[in-house]
Amino acid sequence: MNTINLTINGRATSAPCEPRTHLADFIRETHDLTGTHIGCEHGVCGACTVLIDGVPARSCITFAAACEGASVTTVEGLDEDEITAELRVAFSREHALQCGYCTPGMLVSARDVVLRMEAPTEQDIRVAMSGNLCRCTGYVGIVKAVQAVVADRRARGIQPIPDGGRTRLGPAGSGNAAERGAAPAPATTMNGAISASAARPASVAQAENWKPQTTFEQSFTVAHPVDVVWGFFGRVEEVAACLPGASLNGPARDGHVEGQIKVKVGPISAEFHGAADITRDEATRTGVIDGVGKDRRSNSTTRGQIRYAVRQAETPGETRVDLTVGFTLSGMLAQFSRSGLVQDVANRLIAVFVQNLEARLAHQMRGDAGPPPAAGEFDAGSFLSSVFLGQLKRLVGRFFRRN
Ligand code: FES
Ligand code: FES
Repeated sequence: MNTINLTINGRATSAPCEPRTHLADFIRETHDLTGTHIGCEHGVCGACTVLIDGVPARSCITFAAACEGASVTTVEGLDEDEITAELRVAFSREHALQCGYCTPGMLVSARDVVLRMEAPTEQDIRVAMSGNLCRCTGYVGIVKAVQAVVADRRARGIQPIPDGGRTRLGPAGSGNAAERGAAPAPATTMNGAISASAARPASVAQAENWKPQTTFEQSFTVAHPVDVVWGFFGRVEEVAACLPGASLNGPARDGHVEGQIKVKVGPISAEFHGAADITRDEATRTGVIDGVGKDRRSNSTTRGQIRYAVRQAETPGETRVDLTVGFTLSGMLAQFSRSGLVQDVANRLIAVFVQNLEARLAHQMRGDAGPPPAAGEFDAGSFLSSVFLGQLKRLVGRFFRRN
């Protein structure tokens, strides 16, 4: 149990908290500020949105301990806030709430829209507020209320504040810990450029006590002899060529490679740039790949380890490959690692990889002329309805049941 020091609604406070406690629980249970609602606890519904250093953030996926030195404002802290007062009146007038469960989070996000957007269209507001779900009212009244407050303020000559006063992007509350001597979180400048130190791939070496957030096992059989498959796994460029969406920046050097992988799942598109270190043990025909990557667009990072073992399958002439995959995702995409979606995508990715591997080995065995078959970008959109919507429905379902 650590003691954290931060400011909540303008009052400095200090309280013990477990490293695992998220900010929403900390605010509600330690400080009795129950205006911050908890819906999904997966970063999906936006009910728990608060301001951290003036920027809306989901308190259910923010560790309280990460807010050391930060200034947190909940909906209670916006009682005297001019924009929020105008929004409250507009929400009542436009019938923008029924049960009110989503309303604290809606007000915090709407305030940010009013603060920073000059003349948002209905579509602009819908996009800006798309991280806040309302289960009962619908969005027509909410959008009208926000648009009316913006129009009214602009008519009174109140100009927007560019970027809502933000001076830096990054994990909510980031920067405060650095001032107190802790390692700073990766920072991006406001034009989206990653600072030089953040742009460099992180060291691939796993910290001694690193433990993946999510681990799963997967096996597959390849219709080629074990020597051929083991040899194939030693040629990193060929392995990458079978992995859809993956490309290397250059040849492997001393077991170290750098490159990127693009993954698209319905509306989510990520391109992780990173590096990997590969070690192989000829005697046991096993290998370990340690990797790190960063998707600039979502400011998400991943660290992972793949262990593989290549051995004779039951059917002569075939090879069984056993994989153990462990990874940690942080940033905006972190919510999906907990929903199991990442594992579903990984399973599909591996299935496509095996198809490509088979095609490439068959091409080599036949001695076909011309280049071997190339893997395209991985677009998991084709199974969007069966997997992604299923996951999303379960997340939203949990949100509804809880309330
Ligand atoms: S409770 Fe935090 S986003 Fe739903
Ligand atoms: S008013 Fe939005 S969930 Fe009920």
